[in-house]
Amino acid sequence: MRPLSPAAIRFLASPPAQKELTGLAGGELEPLATLARLRKAWGGERAAWLYDQALLRRRARDKFPHAEALLFESEALEQASHRLVASWRAREVFGPYARVADLGAGIGGDALALAAAGKRVLAVERDPLRAAILRHNAAALGLAARIEVVEADWRGLQLQVDAAFADPARRSGGRRTVHLDAMEPPFADVAALAARLPAVAVKLAPALVKGELPVEAGLGFVSLGGELKEALAGLGELAWPQPWAAVLPAGERLFGPEPQEERLAGPQAYLYEPDAAVIRAGLVRRLAAELQAAQLDAQVAYLTAASCRQTPLARCWRVLRHGPYHFKTLRGWLQELEGTATAVKRRHSPIEPAELAKKLPRAGARSLTVLLTRIGGRNWMMLAEEPS
Ligand SMILES: C[S@@+](CC[C@H](N)C(=O)[O-])C[C@H]1O[C@@H](n2cnc3c(N)ncnc32)[C@H](O)[C@@H]1O
Repeated sequence: MRPLSPAAIRFLASPPAQKELTGLAGGELEPLATLARLRKAWGGERAAWLYDQALLRRRARDKFPHAEALLFESEALEQASHRLVASWRAREVFGPYARVADLGAGIGGDALALAAAGKRVLAVERDPLRAAILRHNAAALGLAARIEVVEADWRGLQLQVDAAFADPARRSGGRRTVHLDAMEPPFADVAALAARLPAVAVKLAPALVKGELPVEAGLGFVSLGGELKEALAGLGELAWPQPWAAVLPAGERLFGPEPQEERLAGPQAYLYEPDAAVIRAGLVRRLAAELQAAQLDAQVAYLTAASCRQTPLARCWRVLRHGPYHFKTLRGWLQELEGTATAVKRRHSPIEPAELAKKLPRAGARSLTVLLTRIGGRNWMMLAEEPS
C-alpha cells in the first residue's frame, strides 16, 4: 500500500474523493481495470490512495461500524479494537464515567465507541496521520462534538478526566510482544496514572505474563465468538478484586473467586467445554460450581454434568460413548451410530486430532464430535453431539 501523508488525508477527506470512494464500495474491485480508470481520472498518486482506501474499507467492515464512511491506515486498522469489544468495554467498564481519556487512540476503534456510548472523550494520539484520520472519522460519524482529538504524547498532558483507557502498541521491532515493559508506552507509565485519576483500564495481550502485573491491579479476559481477544488490567476504582471473564457477543460475565475445593467426576451424560476467556481467567472451578458440574480431571478444562444448561460461558455436548482411547473401538462406535466425526478436539491428550481425523471413516450421516483428553493419567475418548 502507498504510504499516507497529510496531503493524502486532506485529499481523501474531500467531498470529490468521498464520492469516488462511495462509488467504489459496491461490486468487484478488479485491480487492473479499477486502477486504470482511477489513474485516468485522478493521476497515479491519488488513484493509489483511493484504491487502497477502498480495499481498507472492505477489510474494516467487520471491525468498525459504518466503515463505509471512515478513513483507515493499514497497520492502525490491524491494531484497532473490534467494534463489539470496544462498545462492550465502553458500556460495561466505563459505564459510570462521563469523561474518559483514550490514550493512544489510533484511528479511533475505542474513542468512537466511547463517544457513541455517550462519553466525552479526550483522544490522544501522537502519530499525526492517525490523529488526522481520527478527526475525520469522528466527524464522519457525527461524534466530533464528543471527541476532542489531541495530537501529543499523553505523558506530557494534564488529564482532566474521570477515567482513562490505554491500548499501548504491542509491537516492538516488527514483532509482537506480551511483556508489559516492552509495550509502547510501557505499562509502568500507564500504571502511574492511577495515582492521578480515579480509574484506569489497560488493554493487554491475552498471553500476558500475569506475574508482571502489579499486585494491586485487577485483571479480566474478553473473548469474542469463542476467540480470546484481550486482557484488561484495571487500576484505581477499576482494580477488580477478583478475576473475571467476559464472553461476547452475549456479554455474559463470570467473576471469581475460584473455589478452593476440586469437584471431580467421571464422564456423565453431558460435557461442557468452557469458553477461552473463562479458562484464561482461571475460573474453570467457578464455572463448574455455577453449572453444577465437575471436572473430569484436575488438570483438564472439560466439565461433566448430568444435565446441560445452555450458557454462553461454555459449549455443551451430549456424550454418546466414552472410554479409554482405542482407535478400533472409536471406529466401531462411529459405524454403530452411523456417524462421521466432523470435528476432533483435544485437551491434554497426546493424540494429534488432524492425524486421527484422516484415519476415521466418513460414511455416516450423523455429525459427531470426538473429544480427546486425559483422565487420571489415561488417554480418554468421548464421542459426542450437540444437544438438540
Ligand atoms: C494499539 S494502538 C491503539 C488502537 C486503538 N485503541 C483502536 O482501537 O483503534 C496504540 C496507539 O498508541 C499510540 N501511542 C503510543 N504511545 C503513545 C503516547 N505516549 N502518546 C500518544 N499516543 C501513543 C500509537 O501511535 C498507536 O496509534
